[in-house]
Amino acid sequence: MQTYFYKAVPLSTFAAMLSISPKDLKTAQLHGYLLGAVSPRPICFASTVDSDGNVNLSPFSFFNVFSANPPILVFSPARRVRDNTTKHTLENVLETKEVVINIVNYDMVQQMSLSSTEYAAGVNEFVKAGFTEAASEKVVPPRVLEAPVQLECKVNEVVALGTEGGAGNLVICEVVHLHIDEKILDANGKIDPAKIDAVARMGGNWYSRSNVGMFEVEKPLTTLGIGVDALPAAIRNSKVLTGNDLGMLANVEQLPFDNISEEKEIHKKAQVLLNNGDVMSAWQLLSK
Ligand SMILES: Cc1cc2nc3c(=O)[nH]c(=O)nc-3n(C[C@H](O)[C@H](O)[C@H](O)COP(=O)(O)O)c2cc1C
Repeated sequence: MQTYFYKAVPLSTFAAMLSISPKDLKTAQLHGYLLGAVSPRPICFASTVDSDGNVNLSPFSFFNVFSANPPILVFSPARRVRDNTTKHTLENVLETKEVVINIVNYDMVQQMSLSSTEYAAGVNEFVKAGFTEAASEKVVPPRVLEAPVQLECKVNEVVALGTEGGAGNLVICEVVHLHIDEKILDANGKIDPAKIDAVARMGGNWYSRSNVGMFEVEKPLTTLGIGVDALPAAIRNSKVLTGNDLGMLANVEQLPFDNISEEKEIHKKAQVLLNNGDVMSAWQLLSK
């Protein structure tokens, strides 16, 4: 098999990389690397009840959407690394098989963080963190009224990923009812990524805010882009154009020009056009 190196990557880049087997790390250290790397992570703000009806509210960033038909969300309350105990949220979903997953926006972030305090069983974090309970339509746990989106779910399955401290438990949830604040919708009735203002968890104590530093990347052509491998060598081997530039140039249906300038100054000017999203003008400039 032939190996292509489209962009020159100095070997020193690899030499500086840590190369580790998980078995050589303590769980807490491994946890730190994994959470620092897999970030930002969306936050599931989970409202549950126990079999006596006591309400619990806690955030989980091991969370995502995995299917639209059926509508499936998965989050994971892990066994504590410290003492291998389990979390109230896990115990509640095993008992009652229901949860409301609330989406956290920037206005809620400090109260959400407070709610992650390890209060005793039966303590209602809606009260401790100052959120408002709103009655749900299809499940018993209440919704967080302040959340821009509230997803009522039935729990289909809980998959334990291990028995030691740090082991996750996949709570596989099916959405049975959605509540979406109309304030976050755009003119076409879709959720506006700037208006939802969702926050996500990063490594350590860091969070990110979705509407700060947003940028758009158009989806690849449905008609099939030519691909980086089909770009002329003068572009692929450019000392100026980056991988992002090549990605944009390769997202055209047909090679517009194959006689390409190797001049650095031309490549720099083409890069400015690409940064402005003007792919065809960049191609024209690059052609000899
Ligand atoms: C933003 C954020 C994300 C969190 N994500 C997780 C997670 O994915 N899994 C987990 O087990 N704990 C996570 N935690 C910690 C739990 O929220 C915390 O252990 C909480 O006390 C659990 O409450 P419970 O015992 O009432 O369920 C997170 C905390 C915060 C602030």
